[in-house]
Amino acid sequence: MAFTYFFRDRATLDAIKDYAIPELKKNRHINVWDAGCAMGPEPYSLAIMFKENLGYYEFKRFKIYATDLDEESNQFGEIIAKGIYPEESLKRIPREIFKKYFEPNNKPGHFKIADEIMQSVSFQKHDLRSLQPIRDNFGLIVCKNVLLHLQESERIDVIKMFHKCLAEGGFLATEQTQKMPARTAYLFRQVNQKVQLFQKK
Ligand SMILES: C[S@@+](CC[C@H](N)C(=O)[O-])C[C@H]1O[C@@H](n2cnc3c(N)ncnc32)[C@H](O)[C@@H]1O
Repeated sequence: MAFTYFFRDRATLDAIKDYAIPELKKNRHINVWDAGCAMGPEPYSLAIMFKENLGYYEFKRFKIYATDLDEESNQFGEIIAKGIYPEESLKRIPREIFKKYFEPNNKPGHFKIADEIMQSVSFQKHDLRSLQPIRDNFGLIVCKNVLLHLQESERIDVIKMFHKCLAEGGFLATEQTQKMPARTAYLFRQVNQKVQLFQKK
């Protein structure tokens, strides 16, 4: 099972809220690609954060495309589609947010995420090594704790692919420990030196 949990890396989530959302809400469509989404806590955390920071009609224009290799017989897709998670993975969610978007499930110790959040996330299988974007014109691409699994040259090709399918001025977020390779740094402007959030040049 891939390691992940809700509201992982709060600093990057906050930077997306402060720098990316104010720009993205000006767009007609707010399309986000979460590449390497694992079992869903990351795309669902992003969806909750957008819901909290967008107006009613703005959120209707918002969509997250969550992708992963899904090697274990569609397990990721099934877990995401059910939206039911063990308490353990929910501990870092701020209390008010948890109360608002989760309800107890019949399965003891498990909670189900609210339908409005689930409806904003779709899942599909995708291997980043294919270098084929799932669509274009993304406002934000989040790819965290994934690029470290790739060779340096693959990582560069994947970042170039992300750059190509981002809309003008779109954002890319990677994990704190993943520095932007020198060979792709010229394509982006780092939005805030404390986090790995970049804007397409
Ligand atoms: C440690 S998890 C990270 C999950 C989430 N992004 C996070 O940061 O919490 C890494 C995920 O990357 C996925 N992954 C690894 N190589 C990939 C590739 N070539 N294409 C797509 N996903 C990949 C794995 O299947 C796994 O679900």
